[in-house]
Amino acid sequence: MVYIPNAYSQLDQWNSVMFLYESALKAINTKIEILNEEFIHMYGHTPIEHIKSRVKTPDSIVKKMKRNGYEVTIENMVEKLSDIAGIRIICQFVEDIEKVADLIQKRSDIEIKSEKDYIRHMKDSGYRSYHLIVYYTVETMNGPKRIQVEIQIRTMAMDFWATIEHSLQYKYKANIPDHIRERLSAAAKAI
Ligand code: GTP
Ligand code: MG
Repeated sequence: MVYIPNAYSQLDQWNSVMFLYESALKAINTKIEILNEEFIHMYGHTPIEHIKSRVKTPDSIVKKMKRNGYEVTIENMVEKLSDIAGIRIICQFVEDIEKVADLIQKRSDIEIKSEKDYIRHMKDSGYRSYHLIVYYTVETMNGPKRIQVEIQIRTMAMDFWATIEHSLQYKYKANIPDHIRERLSAAAKAI
């Protein structure tokens, strides 16, 4: 895989790959916004509260590659990591998650690679979210480039919970004490 025909350095290659991820996020963001507006026309309410997106930092890309035992190369990164570009769609109501996921799955410009339904099947941690790994094709001057994007769909309450739990994992270095776990679990059920 070489994204620019005349790429002469690893840095060029890195920058052009990162540009693809940024471009894919921009494009998908706009598509989801349009989908939301169309939804308002059809059903009179908006299923999406807001959308967030981010590209994984180089530091966490390298850490994840090493943690999974992959040799750290750009080729491996593009092939093995599906969450370098991530979009989070925040809905108001649980019922909207399925509707939005369904509408994304029906699109011809976004190809579904895999899905995980942590809404119906909550993780032991209490985590709930609907995950889609998709392929999106960015049209570049050097032709089409197909890359992976992770889409997470959840409610505001689920997002709030996941953010706090994520921070606590850092705070306790992935060893959250049992009594805090129990409170998190109770909070997840309550919301
Ligand atoms: P990662 O290697 O962490 O990306 O997980 P995975 O490949 O097993 O996929 P999974 O769908 O389980 O998780 C993908 C992403 O969902 C994670 O990177 C987190 O952003 C989020 N996530 C999954 N489980 C939890 C959890 O228990 N707590 C929180 N806060 N986030 C989670
Ligand atoms: Mg991840």
